[in-house]
Amino acid sequence: MTVEKASSVIIKGVGSYAPPHVLTNDDLSKIVDTSDEWIRTRTGIRERRIAKDETTSDMATKAAQEAMRNAGVEPSEIDLLIVATVTGDHPFPSTSCVTQHKLGLRKIPCFDLLAACSGFLYSIDTAKALMLSGGYKKALIIGAEKLSGITDWDDRGTCVLFGDGAGAAVLELIDEPGCGIIAGDMGADGSEREILFVPAGGSERPASEKTIADREHFIKMQGNQVFKNAVVAMGRSAKKTLEKAGISADEVACVVPHQANIRIIEAISNRLGIGIERFKINLDRFGNTSAASIPIALDEAMRNSRFKSGDYILLVAFGAGLTWASTLIRWQ
Ligand code: ACO
Repeated sequence: MTVEKASSVIIKGVGSYAPPHVLTNDDLSKIVDTSDEWIRTRTGIRERRIAKDETTSDMATKAAQEAMRNAGVEPSEIDLLIVATVTGDHPFPSTSCVTQHKLGLRKIPCFDLLAACSGFLYSIDTAKALMLSGGYKKALIIGAEKLSGITDWDDRGTCVLFGDGAGAAVLELIDEPGCGIIAGDMGADGSEREILFVPAGGSERPASEKTIADREHFIKMQGNQVFKNAVVAMGRSAKKTLEKAGISADEVACVVPHQANIRIIEAISNRLGIGIERFKINLDRFGNTSAASIPIALDEAMRNSRFKSGDYILLVAFGAGLTWASTLIRWQ
């Protein structure tokens, strides 16, 4: 079934979950040669949450239950599920299938989407397209990560950055034009994949004693290269989305950026000409949770009344791939 053009896809409710265990910068300084001062000034991060006995699908399930509660939607009403993650429970089946079962959803289409830190925004665009073309009325999209499981706790250049958590949104197709998810942009550049990746465990370098000894199942990153690419790509993508929507930077009430580094966010604020006070920032408490970072921040921004009905909200992300994406929402 193809639906009428006069339809919109809105965000009906959001929710998030962070595991209770807090790992502070001082805790990290006991594991690797670093300090609270270095981490705070270079990244803005003070602490992050670490999942102990929980899996990615456990966290996804809790965030989704809260999103459905906030949306006033029952699990039986969900027609489509997408989980954005780079740290699924298994290589296969998808974490969305595991989560579907834990949530007690109907036998609806379920799939994972791998676009690293851009995964939640890729999922929004994908779900919107499927809802408009395929007639799915309500979709659940989740960003969930257990990055602690692929973090090299001997590498001070990366282990200070990442955390675990999940965020979710219920999307709904409504018969009203011009609201909800107004415009978006997605892109990728695979030529730079080695500046941020997990080298082994896939078809190129299957798991072996050597890959384990060489610590190739952990995140490897050239931090300053990632930094430069992130600033350029996020700034460009956000501008493109605003242009598509015909909305000026001044009209944006709140920007919810991927939470990787406060200095990246400040650089984007300068590029877009949107004051830093209009940016939602919570990386000080959660670190970089990849695909979970934007929905966790969006949920918190909503609970803190950072925007109201009719406001324009800009989401912008960058991640491994390289990938980038941005989404403009007119809050219902
Ligand atoms: N504690 C103390 N010193 C450190 C630490 C640490 N945790 N980490 C690195 N250093 C040292 C380095 O060894 C280096 O020392 P040297 O000058 O003696 O060689 C010095 O600090 C500077 O290192 P840089 O890497 O140049 O530091 P930089 O200012 O670039 O900050 C950082 C590093 C924080 C990683 C930054 O580059 C960054 O945030 N990059 C983007 C990372 C990111 O966003 N990644 C995720 C992308 S999203 C996704 O898809 C997951």
